[in-house]
Amino acid sequence: MGKTYKIAVMGGDGTGPEVAAEGVKVLKAAADKFNFNLELTDFDYGGDRYMRTGEVLPDNAVEELTKHDAIFLGAIGHPDVKPGILEKGILLSLRFALDQYINLRPVILYPNVDTPIKDKGPEDIDFVVVRENTEGLYAGAGGVLKKGTPDEVAIQESINTRKGVERCIRFAFEYARKRNKRKQVTLCGKTNVLTFAFDLWERAFYEVAKEYPDIKTDYAHVDATCMWMVKNPEWFDVIVTDNMFGDIITDLGAMIQGGMGIAAGGNINPEGVSMFEPIGGSAPKYTGKNIINPLAAIGAAQMMLDHLGESEAALAIENAIRWVVAEKLDSLSAGKMGYGTREVGDLVAGAV
Ligand code: IPM
Ligand code: MN
Repeated sequence: MGKTYKIAVMGGDGTGPEVAAEGVKVLKAAADKFNFNLELTDFDYGGDRYMRTGEVLPDNAVEELTKHDAIFLGAIGHPDVKPGILEKGILLSLRFALDQYINLRPVILYPNVDTPIKDKGPEDIDFVVVRENTEGLYAGAGGVLKKGTPDEVAIQESINTRKGVERCIRFAFEYARKRNKRKQVTLCGKTNVLTFAFDLWERAFYEVAKEYPDIKTDYAHVDATCMWMVKNPEWFDVIVTDNMFGDIITDLGAMIQGGMGIAAGGNINPEGVSMFEPIGGSAPKYTGKNIINPLAAIGAAQMMLDHLGESEAALAIENAIRWVVAEKLDSLSAGKMGYGTREVGDLVAGAV
């Protein structure tokens, strides 16, 4: 009998529960095949619960979630709830409370998937963004004065701690070593303008780099990073960056890898409880239609198994995704896959 993993499943809002269900389907297939057990517990955190109860997260949420080995999340974001409430109250709260200080976002173009970048193929688009996930502009530092008056002042500060920056950079170097591809880490920053924050990042980067003589270093400003991601994505292996830049460049990354339908990510606390999610939103307009692409959620499930140490199972899921996109799907876009949400889940689960 293999190991047992306790997984908290948060379907969330909109199409979140649908894609999470397909992820769970594939997880179960992998558990059968690779001889481990899953103890799944559903959590109803999200917009509907908020509208019913008036609370975004119950007081014991963090305590309950930390009883699990990992969290599997569908999507957060409800059309009837003002933007920001659920995102900050659930997603960001959990990232912070569980100290998930890494947001790991692979950008991989699978064979036969369309990329908007002319003349680039799977051999060119294969890198990963290590986004700092608990600090920067997301820390919530700042405030407003004289709100609603002509003298209004709004300040939003970027918090960068040596500890937070260094652990993120170190994770990136370790990851480049583990990936064992180009063995290169690119720091994405803005040292020419944000001379306080990225001075800290730059110094930490080159100091940590000394511990990794086998890994090449590279630096690009964030604007240039956007340019190179489109022009020469093959230059990248591991990109490390702050929270805000990481948020922006990973949506660009999702587009060059074929869209939100396939983009997965992990909110990782290497010493604690990590949370895996498709990086696209809840896409409420597609809710209940069985047309949303579940592959990003399935990819998140794959990352979760890899993180838990089930690397064989993770590889089997990755290969199954590759096969499904190469041989079966017409497109990765919702409603154009040639299959429904559940059928895509069946295909991947069957291939596993
Ligand atoms: C993401 C999302 C979130 C973020 C939002 C929903 C708060 O865009 O995971 O990238 O900005 O981090
Ligand atoms: Mn984002």
